[in-house]
Amino acid sequence: MPDARVAIIMGSKSDWDTMKVAEETLEKLGIPSDARVISAHRTPDRLTRYLTDAEQRGIEAIICGAGAAAHLAGVTAAHTILPVLGVPIDSSALQGMDALLATVQMPSGIPVATFAIGKSGAKNAALFAAAIIARKDPDVRKSLGEFREAQSASVPERPY
Ligand code: RP5
Repeated sequence: MPDARVAIIMGSKSDWDTMKVAEETLEKLGIPSDARVISAHRTPDRLTRYLTDAEQRGIEAIICGAGAAAHLAGVTAAHTILPVLGVPIDSSALQGMDALLATVQMPSGIPVATFAIGKSGAKNAALFAAAIIARKDPDVRKSLGEFREAQSASVPERPY
């Protein structure tokens, strides 16, 4: 198996239904990823261990999906200078609004790029990670261009 270039971290196994969209999207673009359940509050040691050598292992971006009082992306960003992409998950009574605000409202100094709540956010985070990688990888750039072309071609001219 090729070395992962994007890490996909989620706070709970229950987030996988959403976050697997990120994995599928990266796979279609030919980008190997590594999906892990790592909670910032339930498994804090696992998080620091995973991040310690993430960059040296070849990870180029980290996608974090978490719901409720979502601090996973922020804590991850505190431990690395890799780009961190946050996906708010609609797993709580507040349907992701809590996770959205917690993820997007990072105090100045530690950035988290925040995406839409749920599967759209997971897909766009993967596409954004691909865009980062595409700056220096012509194969990924080509895959992204083809994805855009296919997407445009799939949109009908008329609604009926
Ligand atoms: C967050 O709490 C997780 O990211 C998940 O979205 C939410 C609920 O987790 P579970 O109670 O389903 O494990 O930390």
